[in-house]
Amino acid sequence: MYKLLIRPIFFWFDPEEIHYFTFSLIRNLSKIPGFSALFRSLYEVKDQRLEREVFGLKFKNPVGLAAGFDKDAKLYQELSDFGFGFIEIGTLTPKPQDGNPKKRLFRLREDSAIINRMGFNNGGVDAAVERLKKNKNVLIGGNIGKNKVTPNEEAVSDYEICFEALYEHVDYFVVNVSSPNTPNLRELQDKEPLTNLLQTLQNKNAAKPKQKPILLKIAPDLTDSQLLDIIDIVNETKIAGVIATNTTISRDGLQSENKAEMGGLSGKPLTKRSTEVIRFLSEKSNQSFPIIGVGGIHTAEDAIEKLKAGASLVQLYTGFIYEGPALVRDINKKLLKTIS
Ligand code: FNR
Repeated sequence: MYKLLIRPIFFWFDPEEIHYFTFSLIRNLSKIPGFSALFRSLYEVKDQRLEREVFGLKFKNPVGLAAGFDKDAKLYQELSDFGFGFIEIGTLTPKPQDGNPKKRLFRLREDSAIINRMGFNNGGVDAAVERLKKNKNVLIGGNIGKNKVTPNEEAVSDYEICFEALYEHVDYFVVNVSSPNTPNLRELQDKEPLTNLLQTLQNKNAAKPKQKPILLKIAPDLTDSQLLDIIDIVNETKIAGVIATNTTISRDGLQSENKAEMGGLSGKPLTKRSTEVIRFLSEKSNQSFPIIGVGGIHTAEDAIEKLKAGASLVQLYTGFIYEGPALVRDINKKLLKTIS
């Protein structure tokens, strides 16, 4: 139904405009009595065998919504009705910012992919906190970044501000230093600045009565030697885990006319590389920390491959757009079949 009927209509419109339209549609439908329950009955798979305990948190199933879809925490409650085990909000920055000029989001249909150069458009961390105060029961990851105008030398304080603001309102944190759309952000993935950033946040965390898991989200474009550095840094700073991966700057093997657009590429062309990164991190670290696998999950098999490669949980974004919400249900159902 989604791919035959709804997607062709959605894909007829500008990708960013239809994103916001779909947001209001889901929000308004969910206000009508019975719709929230209807979505859950269609897409939620409830089964104890799907539950996972990872970095001290209990997930009702291992399939999450990746960062960037609900940046401002406006729809997490409704989105959880589509069967996700957890929702990652953000990337949030201390101050609101517009992001890059439009047009900045492109479909690559022939490749089942997206290129985006949104540039952390968001309403700022404080506005998101107000919305998160209304959270009833959704497991939330808080993905944090820095404002574009903040120079890299002062980036740590932006992450600290977001950490402090969100501390009471999210279940885990994600330090995003891997978006290709904020100038020079990815330089923070270098060993010294990254160790310093993560250690500072861990020190803040240690001073709290209860520590929240802090994860690092990495780019798929890191070399093997950079990935080995990441393993060292995770072990040294004792953060809770890694999210692999963000979007790629690679453009290998693309067919679509939009392939030359600047930005981060997500979707099917990323499937193989992000699984490789997960496998590399898992093997080389001797499974010493949990990994959330994300990148090009468009089928249940893609998700299972990432779990087999060493991921404890998975997330999707582009697959949700191309395949529709049934993908979440299909992954969970297939997982149950592999268990029994
Ligand atoms: C993203 N992604 C992303 N990641 C992040 O950490 N912070 C962000 O703000 C965003 N924003 C964003 C916007 C758009 C339009 C897309 C398509 C993606 C990256 C996303 O969370 C994920 O890591 C990648 O897209 C790879 O997964 P998929 O999309 O191939 O399932």
